[in-house]
Amino acid sequence: MKKIMVLGGTGFVGAHVCEKLVREGWRVTVPTRRRANARHLLHLPLLTVLECNVHDEAALAAALAGHDAVINLVAILHGSQAAFDKVHVALPQKLARACRAAGVRQVVHLSALGADALQPQVAPSMYLRSKGHGEAALMQAAASGVEAPFALTILRPSVIFGAEDKLLNLFAGLQKIAPFVPLAGANAQFQPVWVEDVARAVVSCLARRLGLSAEQTPQVLELCGPEVFSLKQLVQLAGQLSGVREGRGRPVFGLPNWLGHLQAALMALAPGEPLMSRDNLDSMRRPNVASGKLPGLASLGITPAALRPVAQAYLTQNQPGQGLLGLRERASGR
Ligand SMILES: NC(=O)c1ccc[n+]([C@@H]2O[C@H](COP(=O)([O-])OP(=O)(O)OC[C@H]3O[C@@H](n4cnc5c(N)ncnc54)[C@H](OP(=O)(O)O)[C@@H]3O)[C@@H](O)[C@H]2O)c1
Repeated sequence: MKKIMVLGGTGFVGAHVCEKLVREGWRVTVPTRRRANARHLLHLPLLTVLECNVHDEAALAAALAGHDAVINLVAILHGSQAAFDKVHVALPQKLARACRAAGVRQVVHLSALGADALQPQVAPSMYLRSKGHGEAALMQAAASGVEAPFALTILRPSVIFGAEDKLLNLFAGLQKIAPFVPLAGANAQFQPVWVEDVARAVVSCLARRLGLSAEQTPQVLELCGPEVFSLKQLVQLAGQLSGVREGRGRPVFGLPNWLGHLQAALMALAPGEPLMSRDNLDSMRRPNVASGKLPGLASLGITPAALRPVAQAYLTQNQPGQGLLGLRERASGR
């Protein structure tokens, strides 16, 4: 039976990926900083939770021994330059070396639409630049393998929606308590993709790659849904689909750039993760839509789900946390 490690397996995408892997008959190992973060995975058979510091390269290599493949889903959305470098660049570098040391033959890495391994420094935000540098590090390691190279697949999703998402749920919850929404980055473009389609893509890449030679890698795919929305449209939809004001949602006002940045700077002063950081706003300067130059879900035989019917089903059911504290907790996924 094939064995796989899922870094970041406790997260939003990770839970869906782990469930699919178990269904496909993989033995799954999920390293986590805190065992309690993996509570929701413990019911899955053939899944082992391992409390482990994945940033400790020796510990990572030891934990990886005996695994055939790795999926890397570890990422952060907010933080300092040092934090982005640690999680999005240094960790992939350590992972590449640990995979070689442990003889792991296949790596699937979740990056983000807008990241570019060829020109990472040109991206508009710390998040996207670090994602690009992380991609480049893995590509270099996969290409320069002499003794034990691994096959590499990089997946770049647009914003991901699903019952536990941090975007639509957040803005639906906000509209339950606020009379209107002052929105920074209102015109930013997104092509939201369903978390189930992302998980299917991950598992499908594994099935296709296993047995293929490392020379055929890396493969880079863009994971997008069928429709493009502005952020303002997404926020309006969140209010409407969750039934706020009998399905009309709250009025949404786009903020000019300078005011959006001021709002983000003020949010950064509050405790907990900001709802929207200045770096998030910088990311939005690059349209989060498919370039059309790279293969997508269709190349894996997956027809992406439309947002409205899926989001309506969970937004009408979900009861977001009470008040801003609850919103912050939801935003940080805790
Ligand atoms: N969600 C989206 O809309 C979206 C859009 C584009 C790309 N992506 C990419 O898709 C991947 C999965 O995203 P997601 O939404 O599932 O993320 P998530 O819910 O935030 O989960 C990420 C996981 O990474 C681990 N982690 C977080 N910070 C860490 C740190 N400093 N050190 C070690 N581990 C850490 C956590 O595991 P433990 O707490 O168990 O340690 C967490 O469960 C990421 O690469 C993300 O960039 C997501």
